[in-house]
Amino acid sequence: MGNRLAVVTGAQRGIGLAIARALACSGHDVVVADLHAQNSASWFREHWGCSARVHCLKVDVSDEGSVCSLFDQIQTLGLSVPDVLINNAATQVWGPLVDMSLEDWNRTLSVNVTGTFLMTREFARRQGEVSATKGAIVNMGSGCNHLAFPDLSAYVSSKGAVEMFTKAASLELGKQGIRVNCIAPGAIETDRTQAETDNYSDSWSPLTPLNRVGTVNDVANAVVALVGDNMGFVSGETIRVDGGLFGRAVWPDSY
Ligand SMILES: NC(=O)c1ccc[n+]([C@@H]2O[C@H](COP(=O)([O-])OP(=O)(O)OC[C@H]3O[C@@H](n4cnc5c(N)ncnc54)[C@H](O)[C@@H]3O)[C@@H](O)[C@H]2O)c1
Repeated sequence: MGNRLAVVTGAQRGIGLAIARALACSGHDVVVADLHAQNSASWFREHWGCSARVHCLKVDVSDEGSVCSLFDQIQTLGLSVPDVLINNAATQVWGPLVDMSLEDWNRTLSVNVTGTFLMTREFARRQGEVSATKGAIVNMGSGCNHLAFPDLSAYVSSKGAVEMFTKAASLELGKQGIRVNCIAPGAIETDRTQAETDNYSDSWSPLTPLNRVGTVNDVANAVVALVGDNMGFVSGETIRVDGGLFGRAVWPDSY
């Protein structure tokens, strides 16, 4: 039997890149699907040092035609129907909601929520064409699935929706043998988050019970575990990968 095929969106950098690498190094062939294609398949193979087959394809997850074309290209390449889908691509706009443009609001919801829906729908449709499937989807949420973050109203709204979509999709796709779960990362050090503040690690480590920020590999390792057969009865669940950060209640200092 060949490797399982995993499609990872937003995998050219950051957390998605680490997830794609971890899946490739744990027996999956991988489709790196991103809006941009700065790194080629041979770059990935060279840097990852594993024997997985890697393909880099462009997709805009918020665009229905682009998502269908991605799955058509996978078929044209002669690859198997994907077994694993990681809906990781997302975008974020900072600023007070009174100043937010409708365009920024719509773009955030389109990429983060509609993109997750479109990719999930197409994945499930293609899986439906093969029998006895055992698919797994992981949607990338956030601590703000449940908690409101300041100046991130569109992003917060989108991640709350991702968690409920995870539950709704798990209800409907379970009969097809597809498990759908969500990972909610805490403060994870990436190029993007480091650029947000002068010292990302010093800002977030003291707030995190495990007293450090997370690495992209912390998230990737959780994703690999969640799509694996050992987690075969887990569906509709959200797992926080945050060192305990967003389990903390607001509590008065006077205690
Ligand atoms: N980094 C963190 O601390 C953190 C915390 C909580 C949740 N998350 C979530 O983890 C995921 C990855 O975060 P990151 O920090 O690595 O993000 P990032 O911004 O570094 O990377 C996002 C990737 O998605 C791609 N992308 C954006 N729009 C796309 C589109 N329309 N179609 C296809 N690809 C698109 C980008 O090109 C990029 O490669 C996101 O879902 C994010 O919300 C991250």
